[in-house]
Amino acid sequence: MGVLDGRVAIVTGAGRGLGREHALLLAAEGARVVVNDVGGASPDNGPAHDVVAEIISAGGQAVANTDSVSDWHGAQRLVETAIREFGDLHVVVNNAGIMRDRTLINMTEEEFDSVVDVNLKGTFAVSRHAAAYWRNQSKLGLAADRAIINTSSAAGLQPGAGQTNYAAAKAGIAAMTQVASKELKRYGVRVNCIAPAARTHLTLSTPGLSERVAEPESETEFDSWHPGNISPLVAFLAAERCALSGHMFRVVGDLIGVYEGWRVVETFENGSRWSVPQIEQALVGVAVEPVAQEA
Ligand SMILES: NC(=O)c1ccc[n+]([C@@H]2O[C@H](COP(=O)([O-])OP(=O)(O)OC[C@H]3O[C@@H](n4cnc5c(N)ncnc54)[C@H](O)[C@@H]3O)[C@@H](O)[C@H]2O)c1
Repeated sequence: MGVLDGRVAIVTGAGRGLGREHALLLAAEGARVVVNDVGGASPDNGPAHDVVAEIISAGGQAVANTDSVSDWHGAQRLVETAIREFGDLHVVVNNAGIMRDRTLINMTEEEFDSVVDVNLKGTFAVSRHAAAYWRNQSKLGLAADRAIINTSSAAGLQPGAGQTNYAAAKAGIAAMTQVASKELKRYGVRVNCIAPAARTHLTLSTPGLSERVAEPESETEFDSWHPGNISPLVAFLAAERCALSGHMFRVVGDLIGVYEGWRVVETFENGSRWSVPQIEQALVGVAVEPVAQEA
């Protein structure tokens, strides 16, 4: 008996990295899984098919889909695949993502658009088609627990330099999670989000990160960067017994953190419209980062 017995799940970008681990665990917990990934030279082979073969050889049920999540009709086909192959859809794990790091001043339009396209639009497109199906099911009186698990990043919640595109997309996913959790509640849909960190193609190809996420030297040491550490939280959020919605979790190694969003930490009031000098005076204690000008 698994916590996901009877559930049908889509995992996007599941041919490698975190998505692959999510798909394997969801299937091991009893879910029938649509393994989505664009990787590979043709729709008939590639990483999504490899993960499906792994699930089937372990006794689970899965089918592959190679549509891009950012293709509107592709996202629709992905949702239809779950319904056609497995008769329903309960869980969407929006995991597919890409990074194209560059400082704002050097970032090209293509680098901005492609990252927003896969991460942000891809999350919207798959959620949108799944939600349309769930609304119809709800109208037909076919109530069930449904769950979306989105994937943000610390890069979007505590942004640093060099990731204008990725940080904006991931912060957008965090906001979208909160909007969707409020809007889709009436159809029985819970929407949560994770900000993970683990050793994958994405982190191994990031200068400065690849050394930090290295495998432990001894086999007995807990491998805190193993991508499989992220998936149990995803499986829990996907389970019918989970009541959580609208939450954002940090998850890395053995740590699960609960985020709190932007909040006002200090206020100033003037009793009437501020003048510019009054504002300058009031904000005198707010920390200023010195702006260094390059010659
Ligand atoms: N690894 C980390 O430490 C980390 C940290 C923060 C956030 N994330 C997020 O976790 C998610 C998974 O990342 P990962 O580290 O496993 O990366 P990864 O590169 O190992 O895997 C991402 C997968 O997504 C697939 N993909 C890319 N574009 C796609 C598209 N348009 N449609 C369908 N599939 C597509 C790729 O082929 C790849 O297999 C991403 O959203 C990433 O931004 C990862």
